[in-house]
Amino acid sequence: MAESKLKATQPIGIFDSGIGGLTVANAIAKALPKEQLIYFGDTAHLPYGDKSPDSIKYYSIRIAQFLMQQNCKMIVVACNTASALAYETVKDFVGNRIPVIDVVEPVVEEILKDKKNKHIGVIATKGTIKSDIYAKKIKEKNKNLTVSSQATPLLASMIEEGFFNNKISRTIIFDYLSRPKIKKIDSLILACTHYPLIRKEVDEFYHGKIKIYDNAEVVAKKVAAVLKSAKLLSPTKNTNHKFFVSDYTKSFEESSRFFFPSKIKLAEAAIWK
Ligand code: DGL
Repeated sequence: MAESKLKATQPIGIFDSGIGGLTVANAIAKALPKEQLIYFGDTAHLPYGDKSPDSIKYYSIRIAQFLMQQNCKMIVVACNTASALAYETVKDFVGNRIPVIDVVEPVVEEILKDKKNKHIGVIATKGTIKSDIYAKKIKEKNKNLTVSSQATPLLASMIEEGFFNNKISRTIIFDYLSRPKIKKIDSLILACTHYPLIRKEVDEFYHGKIKIYDNAEVVAKKVAAVLKSAKLLSPTKNTNHKFFVSDYTKSFEESSRFFFPSKIKLAEAAIWK
């Protein structure tokens, strides 16, 4: 395997359409405090939720190439839309050079572990919902489960603008969660990497009565497990993380602190220019 030539001290590459994937990066940094992270947010093409599958595949391959040029030992597709539409394409492109992890499969594995989950709700961008990826993957493993999905296209930009845990966000979230399609669920997947920030409000809507899954911690656990079994966990601490965006604005930098609590500097990697 080409993977055996990798060094444990190489960084982990993580990408998203923008800064939402920083919730996943943050969970990885917490779970694996010795690892160096290289993050790439494709802010030039944000949001991915409304783009065609071909565009998402094209962007994702170029970003994977960039992360490999940065010497990453692993790629984490920290975006549900890109995981839904381009995970297979990225894996084909990368081949057996380095492991690639998406955000969908680890959550599906968690859902299937709890036998109490019978009717699972999914909220996400239009692209993720249209792909039906969660329903397909869950039903592939257990066709007796019911999966109901609701697109919630306003939420990602709302959160990015700092609207969470306030009156406006509560009104929008409660409106989406009241839609008939997801009325009878017993568990809910927050299938967008921005949504860990609204987890509290979602839980409030359901009065703590349904199980809520988000991508961040579940994916961090998966990353740890894959690196461990490949003997690629870094033995030495290197927290010289790098955060790249394809189009830099001050506003992205300001919003990034919502998603990654330590103060971070975004650098522009103009891979499209
Ligand atoms: N972070 C992306 C995801 O998880 C959503 C934002 C977007 O539409 O680009 O799907």
